[in-house]
Amino acid sequence: MRELCYNAGMRFDIFTLFPGIFESPLRESMLKRAIESGLLQVQLHNIRDYAEGRHQVTDDYPYGGGGGMVMKPEPVFTAVESVLGIGDRGSGFRDQAAGQSSTPALHPQRGASVSNRQSTIPIVLLTPQGRVFNQRMALELAQYDRVALICGRYEGFDERIRQHLATDEISIGDYVLTGGELAALVILDAVIRMKPGVLGDPTGAVDDSHASGLLEYPHYTRPPEFRGWQVPEVLLSGDHAKVDRWRREQALRRTWTRRPDLLELVELTESERAWLRQLAQDGA
Ligand code: ADE
Repeated sequence: MRELCYNAGMRFDIFTLFPGIFESPLRESMLKRAIESGLLQVQLHNIRDYAEGRHQVTDDYPYGGGGGMVMKPEPVFTAVESVLGIGDRGSGFRDQAAGQSSTPALHPQRGASVSNRQSTIPIVLLTPQGRVFNQRMALELAQYDRVALICGRYEGFDERIRQHLATDEISIGDYVLTGGELAALVILDAVIRMKPGVLGDPTGAVDDSHASGLLEYPHYTRPPEFRGWQVPEVLLSGDHAKVDRWRREQALRRTWTRRPDLLELVELTESERAWLRQLAQDGA
């Protein structure tokens, strides 16, 4: 296990066969700062360290034949249970949590065991078969102090990991990666930036694309003219009410053109609805 921070804060336990993949992203920019300021703690657990035998094998051939290898259940169960203190090998987290948990794990999968349903630590399997990750799910995960992420490799996981260990399965999009590590980093990044203090600007995560349900309005900085392209006049006007109105309209327009599906989920005023109808009529 490699620990990148000893301070308290939101803690991620990441179970992987390739902990080295995480080294560089966690040592740069915002994630590095979050770790240094104690807002983020990441513990990387190499699943191979929990595999038995001289060769510490973590994969095996699929029953029933077919190509590819499957991640064995034993090392994954042993790793997660001993680190989180659940199950037979743990220090009794399950017993402590049983019957008193007011925070059910995120969307437990149908087959998840009772002990995991009662866990206050989401145990998330990264897999292309999971729920597709979005800003709302990032916000949900940010409510927890501690999250476990299990990264798969090979062709997939033994189904018992899915059914009896994980409390949730998340995909970062409808494409297949070589493993769950990059997906874990995406989730970690999206979740930790929600935490107060992680972004320099306290409103940083509020105005984001998707945070309000809309895509973000366009941004400009100096110079006011670049290669003949002007910054919109309203932004130079100093009239904050006008700027706010312009930004809201731009966010609506951009969402309407690029992601109209998002508009169905957003609360709009009557005048905004009228404005959008007008936009649609004008074909803008
Ligand atoms: N592992 C492989 N592909 C993935 C995806 N799209 N999301 C999450 N984990 C994955």
